[in-house]
Amino acid sequence: MEFYGQQVVLITGCSQGGIGHALARSFADEGCLVVATARSLSSMAYLEDDPRFFLQELDVVSEESVNEVVSTVVEKYGRIDVVVNNAGVQCVGPLAEVPLSALQHTFDTNVYGPMRLIQAVIPHMVSRRKGKIVNVGSVSALSPGPWSGAYTASKAALQALSDSLRLELKPFGINVITVVPGAIRSNIGNSGLVGYNKMPEWKLYKPFEAAIRARVTLSQGPKSTPSEEFAKKTVSAILKKNPPAWFSSGHLSVIFAILYYMPIVVRDFVLRKAMKL
Ligand SMILES: NC(=O)c1ccc[n+]([C@@H]2O[C@H](COP(=O)([O-])OP(=O)(O)OC[C@H]3O[C@@H](n4cnc5c(N)ncnc54)[C@H](OP(=O)(O)O)[C@@H]3O)[C@@H](O)[C@H]2O)c1
Repeated sequence: MEFYGQQVVLITGCSQGGIGHALARSFADEGCLVVATARSLSSMAYLEDDPRFFLQELDVVSEESVNEVVSTVVEKYGRIDVVVNNAGVQCVGPLAEVPLSALQHTFDTNVYGPMRLIQAVIPHMVSRRKGKIVNVGSVSALSPGPWSGAYTASKAALQALSDSLRLELKPFGINVITVVPGAIRSNIGNSGLVGYNKMPEWKLYKPFEAAIRARVTLSQGPKSTPSEEFAKKTVSAILKKNPPAWFSSGHLSVIFAILYYMPIVVRDFVLRKAMKL
């Protein structure tokens, strides 16, 4: 396989139908060599026979799994040019009752997962004085509302880590890009429901059950942006010589950006209406 001159891009969470899957295809369409990873190879079977992809199992909550994949890729290609921390899980439930174990799992996947991979690739990128680290956040962190506090807080933490990393890694020639999707069509609603169905029965918040459950699939309405469209724009921003520090796109992304600058009283009013509280 020819890979000289091609950018080597490692992406987490590339299961079929999700944003990672669409990003993998868009990077490949731009001539990159894509290391597409997911917890299970079977969820990436659609990429199996395409030589533009090197498929690896990678679970972001396992340091061993992360280190093994990074070593394999560096050994095979001699470098990793771009890392995309895309894997993520939702966690919906009122903060007063959501099990701490669910909160911990959310942070382990959405915050410590990216940090595991970032710490594993930094030595290689520093040695080449080159590299791009992309962290996928969420517009929900711009205006945190009810029912998804654990998820939103994890994305806010990731976005804050990105800001510090961008400054800390600048002396080493590494760019850090925060990608902030709006509502993008993917499996997030269905996988979120699997997690939500494992939640205990709400006590204090029983009267809000319908509104809480509806939060799980909120991003998957008829106006959600197709993941391919989002991925094409995102990849073109990431591959720029001087990529932006922040790239947000997709349905509702403008509304959330405006809400971010609104007085808290206005944000609370809008979110209470939207979340039926
Ligand atoms: N869709 C949206 O509207 C939206 C909006 C804002 C932000 N985002 C963010 O975009 C990213 C992609 O989400 P998506 O919408 O494409 O959802 P998705 O279709 O559910 O994809 C999530 C991916 O993350 C993987 N994953 C979960 N836990 C993992 C772990 N421990 N190790 C490795 N992979 C793991 C999933 O693998 P399995 O298939 O094995 O579960 C799946 O491939 C997430 O970070 C999400 O928070 C999405």
